[in-house]
Amino acid sequence: MMICYNESERTFKLDTPNTSYMLGIVDEEGFIGHIYYGRRLKDADAAYLMRTQEPPFVPGKNNRERCSFYDCFPFEYPTGGLGDYRESCLEIRTKDGHAGAMLTYVSHEIFKGKPALEGLPATFGTEEECMTLRLVCEDKYVGMRAELLYTVFNDTDVITRSVKITNVGQQHFYLTKVYSACIDMDNNDFDMISLHGSWARERRIQRKTLGYGIQNVSSFRGESSHQDHPFLALLRKNTSQESGEVYAMNFVYSGNFRAQAEVSQFDQVRMSMGIHPQNFCWKLEAGESFQAPEAVMTYTDKGLDAMTAAFHKLYKRHLIRGEYKDKKRPILINNWEATYFEFNTEKLLSIAREASKLGIEMLVMDDGWFGRRNSDNCALGDWKVNEEKLNGGLKYLVDEVNKLGMKFGIWFEPEMISPDSDLYRAHPDWAIAIPGRTATESRQQYVLDLSRKGVVDYVYEAVAGILRSANIEYVKWDMNRQLTDLGSYGLPADRQGELYHRYVLAVYELQGRLVKEFPYLLLENCSGGGARFDPGMLYFSPQIWCSDDTDAIERLAIQEGTALIYPLSTMGAHVSDCPNHTVGRVTPFETRGIVALAGTFGYELDVTRIPEEDRKQIPEQVAMYHKYNDLVREGDYYRIASYSQNRQFDCWQVVNEDKSQALVTYVQVLNRPNFKSKRILLKGLDADKRYRVCFANGDAVPEPVVYSGDTLMKAGLMIPNPWGDFQARLIVLTAEG
Ligand code: DGJ
Repeated sequence: MMICYNESERTFKLDTPNTSYMLGIVDEEGFIGHIYYGRRLKDADAAYLMRTQEPPFVPGKNNRERCSFYDCFPFEYPTGGLGDYRESCLEIRTKDGHAGAMLTYVSHEIFKGKPALEGLPATFGTEEECMTLRLVCEDKYVGMRAELLYTVFNDTDVITRSVKITNVGQQHFYLTKVYSACIDMDNNDFDMISLHGSWARERRIQRKTLGYGIQNVSSFRGESSHQDHPFLALLRKNTSQESGEVYAMNFVYSGNFRAQAEVSQFDQVRMSMGIHPQNFCWKLEAGESFQAPEAVMTYTDKGLDAMTAAFHKLYKRHLIRGEYKDKKRPILINNWEATYFEFNTEKLLSIAREASKLGIEMLVMDDGWFGRRNSDNCALGDWKVNEEKLNGGLKYLVDEVNKLGMKFGIWFEPEMISPDSDLYRAHPDWAIAIPGRTATESRQQYVLDLSRKGVVDYVYEAVAGILRSANIEYVKWDMNRQLTDLGSYGLPADRQGELYHRYVLAVYELQGRLVKEFPYLLLENCSGGGARFDPGMLYFSPQIWCSDDTDAIERLAIQEGTALIYPLSTMGAHVSDCPNHTVGRVTPFETRGIVALAGTFGYELDVTRIPEEDRKQIPEQVAMYHKYNDLVREGDYYRIASYSQNRQFDCWQVVNEDKSQALVTYVQVLNRPNFKSKRILLKGLDADKRYRVCFANGDAVPEPVVYSGDTLMKAGLMIPNPWGDFQARLIVLTAEG
């Protein structure tokens, strides 16, 4: 890892273990251009890639074609309004109503370590682990300074970027767009991968050809969303899981975003990522700054597996924090699918009693314990325990659960307010709404205006007060609707465009305060399933509920898309009852367990009422979790096959650091008649080690056999054709000697 500046060439070179990134300064005006991002370079003599020695040249040599220069120069941080007609990263409106900006070089600083970003989640590292370049540029006409921050890490091929804009002039101006990262490169006939979905089918992988013009994925729903994901990868046509070039970006942010690729008239690609400009307008008074969130970039020539490995390593080591960062999580049982709103103390205790006998370690009480919340129509905001339901009170329930040797967890939806709630009756102006217009309900609720300090303080005290009242060791923080009717009673007219971002900042502030006051709390974020599963939330909670769809087969695609970027340790995954509540499918209990083992693992069913043959399997699943969770959480993850692509089976693998143990999960979806066993090529093993291969479950379990890592990776392993649909196999490989 290294960052250096070549004074005579006026170039910067940033090196990660296997990649180099270069940018340079040209012309006496000091335009900053992107030079190179790719395999690690030995030398730093690639400035010619900016093509300033050919027409239209730089304005200092050919000012008559300044506009042409602006429209083809590979800007490191492009600005709009003066002649670069491609997507810009920064747009402004001055006090006089003018757009147009140009940032040119002022100074730079290179230092060890990585500064935190004020008010925002961001990756971190020590002075030994990372190095940062701060590049300062200015638009003197506007009185605007931009600080571009780049950090490289010594243990993963990732570069993080962020931008801070400061008003260094006398007049206020408005930021109408501030992206966080951009790369201008030559078009290499790319494909584009993005993640799409909806409620109950989050993060499905889509790969398509990148064409001319603009292609983007985005959210302006106020959260990162079920629908699109703040991630984009460009890859060469021949790129597969195992080989080929990939450029990828991911956003450490939980609100509106746009991730975009644009192929220009000159066959250049501009890839960019940042806060979605729709409805964004931030006023900067003289002396004020705006900090844009962090974007993470990675490049590899070793295929999608290597891209995934880079993200996983970064997030495991340099983003997730707290007590549970590297720890096994308690196996929980959540009462949502078990009871929905129909529960009381006795019902919860009956579930806990049975669960504790089976080895389950924590009871989580979901929605419905407060106010008059007996359905999802009312009472959000009234965070007072409903003692008609919880007879004896919350502390009594928690103590009783603790006496069973189990931990206790609780659900909140702190960001919301029901129109039918005492809170709304007292403070109708606390909801986000456009004055005079009837606000749009969603799940019969409104969103609290978290841009107001009084509202934030109320929310914090409501949650913290409950947590202080009993021994609560886990919180599920839910958010069940997206933002509409953007209006705040607390903001002046010319700051209404700040509401979306201020909302996200307040969510971060709330969660930051919570994990500070309750450092041992296990926080699990959730948003109607997995609508806010992003690196921003992972900074506060080491796990996020992946999807409300708990069907084992639907989960294959959801978990595949999620694991493309995020470590398995972050994916909330539960075994639920059948017929599945979302799709009505019936799958073997064993398969549900094996699929959930790839995530945090837990249960979401009424353990007192499920079939006896299912209940009997729980102690065995619990034992499997304890045996293999270290490997799942800490190991390197590899995608072997995708049911979404082959429509037959899904297969993934984890391998521990010294390659002495691996776990392969194989799920056959629909059985096909008259087929032979399936041969799969394993990955990530030590070619020189010999592995004992043992099928941990299944009716036709062959005797353990021993093969070399080399054979298993090149020639493959045979999986006997399982009998029946929806069958899963767990295969354990242990190195001999
Ligand atoms: C949506 C969550 O994803 C569910 O797990 C559950 O907590 C409900 N909300 C409760 O309203």
